[in-house]
Amino acid sequence: MSRTPTIIRDPQEIRSLCDEERARGASVCLVPTMGALHEGHLGLVREAASHGDLVVVSIFVNPAQFAPGEDFDLYPRNLADDMDKLAPAGAALVFAPSVETMYPSNAGTTISVNGITEGLCGAHRPGHFAGVATIVAKLFNIIGPCTAVFGRKDYQQLQVIRKMTLDLNMPVKIVGMATVREPDGLAMSSRNEYLSDEERSRATAIPSGLAATHALFDRGERNVKALLRPVISSIEGACDSIDYITAADPGSLEPLEDEALADETMLIALAVRIGKTRLIDNTVLGEDRSPLPGPGN
Ligand code: PAJ
Repeated sequence: MSRTPTIIRDPQEIRSLCDEERARGASVCLVPTMGALHEGHLGLVREAASHGDLVVVSIFVNPAQFAPGEDFDLYPRNLADDMDKLAPAGAALVFAPSVETMYPSNAGTTISVNGITEGLCGAHRPGHFAGVATIVAKLFNIIGPCTAVFGRKDYQQLQVIRKMTLDLNMPVKIVGMATVREPDGLAMSSRNEYLSDEERSRATAIPSGLAATHALFDRGERNVKALLRPVISSIEGACDSIDYITAADPGSLEPLEDEALADETMLIALAVRIGKTRLIDNTVLGEDRSPLPGPGN
């Protein structure tokens, strides 16, 4: 029988509850989210249940990671729906604090992770990853998890969090989970709710392009420019603008030159706009499954 998780809004209260559980010998696993939960999030929660005795999901639309003019105000918020979805997934506690609790007006500390935040989304969303790193560090300090689960859908975010925990000796194991996709390959995202029907159908160009690149890689192509070609041409025809489509080293996120040859694995990451909606996606060739499994995949 699945029980509806308890909502806690106060950091002191959730810390005490987690402390009590730890004193009983339980381990705590955290899944940080901004809510508007879909199957991608729920997969992380189910995974968390295999890493900790107590699964905590945080739901907090973090203003510090949105720049002025981005979609902070529009971002979908639906706690009642989220709670219904979390019960069968195995979450025990939901931490849903207010903005004022998390950012009192006298707060003045920010965590900035250098290097890997400079390219890809970092180049287009200044301050975004400092906002992410700061809130995740705060959540780690409040909840005290042994393990935290994140999605590879936000590949750069996952690497930033791995680096932060390593650099700051945070005693948290980071688990990264594969991207969960719709049947037509589009990566699930809370922001997909913004798309009109017409925009939603254009968005399928993203997984189609990435799948074409996978097929080329599987046939032995290693030239970076050749591997990027199908994804660029698929997306150029369908999207309204492109922030970036980049081939990079999956560990360092260093971009690869067009003339370079892919290693055993290569990251292709992209951010595009369809109408007013910014969508991101990525795949690691040689490691991830194709977004559109075809024969032989
Ligand atoms: P949010 O976009 O709500 O995502 C929460 C977690 O779910 C992240 O780890 C993200 O990578 C993962 N996720 C989202 N869509 C996914 C999909 N289709 N498949 C697999 N995992 C998916 O990412 C954030 O919130 C915030 O930046 C946060 C880390 C909570 C800090 O505010």
